[in-house]
Amino acid sequence: MEEIRRVGVLGAGTMGNGIAHVFARNGFEVVLCEVEQRSLDRGLETIRKNLDREVAKGKLAGSEAAAALKRIEGTLDRTALGDCQFAIEAATEKFEVKRELFKELDRTLPAEAVLASNTSSISITRLAAQTQRPGQVVGMHFFNPVPVMKLVEVIRGLATTQASFDTVKGLAEKLGKTPVEVNDAAGFVSNRVLMPLLNEAMFAVMEGVATAEAVDEVFKLGMAHPMGPLTLADFIGLDVCLDIMRVLEEGIGDPKYRPCPLLIRMVDAGWLGRKSGRGFYQYG
Ligand code: CAA
Repeated sequence: MEEIRRVGVLGAGTMGNGIAHVFARNGFEVVLCEVEQRSLDRGLETIRKNLDREVAKGKLAGSEAAAALKRIEGTLDRTALGDCQFAIEAATEKFEVKRELFKELDRTLPAEAVLASNTSSISITRLAAQTQRPGQVVGMHFFNPVPVMKLVEVIRGLATTQASFDTVKGLAEKLGKTPVEVNDAAGFVSNRVLMPLLNEAMFAVMEGVATAEAVDEVFKLGMAHPMGPLTLADFIGLDVCLDIMRVLEEGIGDPKYRPCPLLIRMVDAGWLGRKSGRGFYQYG
């Protein structure tokens, strides 16, 4: 297959802008697609700030940051993906949204291109089945903040070919990340294990076992976690946590994955964590 030089990233939100950042930072040309100009502008601004942060820390020359930024073409026009050799979808964590995007990517990208999803819990096999190239669909799951976290879970769907899997694994390595191979099951490894921890921390708060601050202190000081579970839930986004718990509950079918009622209430209230200014803590 042709060498991958130009990659498409769908979605300029927290994960999408981080993914565009690391591809551009490592020499790839990036087409960053959004559905709204405002979201695109916000995503590009975040990339600029995070590149500057690396310049300020002396990890990157100013000229390299400027060149990385220039390699990113922000657009609302998904036909611009037509000459990409690879694309990764980082849209909202809803199957219906991803299904439509995969159908479109399948129509738009060259037949030999590999398509990836940054989904944190949705079945890669199911997404692959929306396309005429199920063997070329792979999960490529990054972690927030993308420029910092070393892990990429590389997920093999039922139909994924070894060549496509190796392409994505190789891309992760070119980005300076460590790929870990995982099979296609709800929540993969990361969220199958992490989300029940966050959910249980929420039950502890709801049932009055301890305050959010106390639960977080236990994990920071007792288990050396960089963030306590409730700070981390706010950081990930409470809506995202709820979506993932629902995928686990439905996909694995064990009642132990029942989302905490306090989480559901907070999402209903629009308290989505750091991004909305309020979650278990207040921000800004
Ligand atoms: N973009 C780029 N760089 C960033 C950044 C960002 N958004 N946020 C922090 N950094 C960099 C800083 O510049 C700093 O770099 P140096 O080490 O070179 O100084 C480094 O990260 C550490 O940052 P700070 O000193 O400002 O802050 P910190 O020590 O408190 O670390 C943190 C911040 C890296 C976010 C740390 O708290 C942490 O690791 N938290 C846990 C994050 C985590 O668990 N993420 C996974 C979430 S789950 C997920 O993403 C997947 C899913 O499917 C839900």
